[in-house]
Amino acid sequence: MELPPVLHEYQKMYKLISEKIKHDINYGLILFITKKFKENIVREIEDKGDYKIICDRILDEFDNYFLNNSREKILLEIEKFQQIHISEKNVKPKILSINDTNLDKAVDLLKNGKLVAFPTETVYGLGANGLNSEAVKLIYKWKGRPSNNPVILHIAKLYDIYNLIDISSKMINIINIISEKFWPGPLTIVVKASDIVPLEVTANTGFVGIRIPNDSVALKLLDKCDFPIAAPSANLSGHVSPTNYSHVYIDFINKPLTILEDSENYSKRIGIESSIIKIEESFTSSVKLTVLRSGFIGGQSIKQTLEDNGFSVELIYYERVATDEEILDVPGQLFRHYAPNINAYVHDCNSKNYIETSKLKNYVILGSNKSLYQYKDTCLEYIDIGNNVFDVAKNLYDCLRKAEDNLSANGIIISIELMYECFDINTDIKIAILDKLMRCTEAKSIFIK
Ligand code: TXA
Ligand code: MG
Repeated sequence: MELPPVLHEYQKMYKLISEKIKHDINYGLILFITKKFKENIVREIEDKGDYKIICDRILDEFDNYFLNNSREKILLEIEKFQQIHISEKNVKPKILSINDTNLDKAVDLLKNGKLVAFPTETVYGLGANGLNSEAVKLIYKWKGRPSNNPVILHIAKLYDIYNLIDISSKMINIINIISEKFWPGPLTIVVKASDIVPLEVTANTGFVGIRIPNDSVALKLLDKCDFPIAAPSANLSGHVSPTNYSHVYIDFINKPLTILEDSENYSKRIGIESSIIKIEESFTSSVKLTVLRSGFIGGQSIKQTLEDNGFSVELIYYERVATDEEILDVPGQLFRHYAPNINAYVHDCNSKNYIETSKLKNYVILGSNKSLYQYKDTCLEYIDIGNNVFDVAKNLYDCLRKAEDNLSANGIIISIELMYECFDINTDIKIAILDKLMRCTEAKSIFIK
């Protein structure tokens, strides 16, 4: 059969590319190239029908890509693509609106070992029955999450915590005090786990992270369950965290996942993950309070709360970065994290890496407080990320996803001037945002000149 001319050109192109990276032409490769370089061009093909020119352009783009990335990295990306797009081809996530019947449906699914994504005031969670090892294993599998990274248990009320933890009465007292002040809310407390918590939840650490989220949908769902819900953020491992249901849908496009719609609480969203603290008794009479992940609720205010109740507190910040190969003493510190599918850079006038204004037409700029605004018409796309740290936290992930969706983009440049301007307001949330920016850019910076 005669191939339509467009397919003919494509076939030639795939052949060339696959020879280049010494990889068989297969569905995964085709999808990969299609997604990476072509979707925006297909429209042009329909309009103009000039396949040859368009395919040449794609080849040029691929040449660039090939020059800038190692073969291993490209093969890995293709493999990831294959896994995501080829298996379970005809399955799609299902979105449920919020009403009693649908919440009951979600509970039934969870009871039967299925996964349900639900909104929280921080980011969407990929939920499973937290007492069912097999269901929790599915979380790791679907996310592609390393098995040394434990997941948080979500509960509806403080009472539900007691059989999940194994701690002294002094520690219980401490948890009561902290939870009264900060729960429901964006704070996860890590303490010694009881025997009923599966090893998959603790990742064999003996410790479990627990929180009561402050979102009406999450709370209604949790209230209907007679088990805690284990839930990491509902994104593929390493990718940008999701703040609305369409983000979840895209990451799990070929999975039989049920997604509860956004709640009515959008304006109350924080947009970045909960703060994580670990509390331990120390040999001295003080309590050891370690901040493992900064967020909206600061270590200092938790320390103050405990001190107001007569405890002496040793506060430690333990946030660091680790490579994939390292054994983590505390999990969740991988260097590359929250990362979009294209290169991202923070804008830094001290950076040795610079870009000329004329090249900005291939870059998306995330500007804040009108900084980098002067490049609005020079760059490929300008996205306003917000004018204060709270808005930046709320918008950051959505902006990163919007930027990576621009298929013509070679990279994203993020303004962080705002973070330095407002030094004295809510330091913890600022630390949190800077930490996320550092990980999502892999500490890459650029200077526009
Ligand atoms: O806001 C949030 O915390 C969201 C929502 C869905 O609740 N969840 C979330 O989960 O961000 P995840 O898995 O994406 O990040 C949880 C982090 C991981 O870095 C993990 O290493 C750490 O919490 N973590 C969980 N349990 C822990 C434990 N037992 N010990 C030390 N770190 C723990
Ligand atoms: Mg996460």
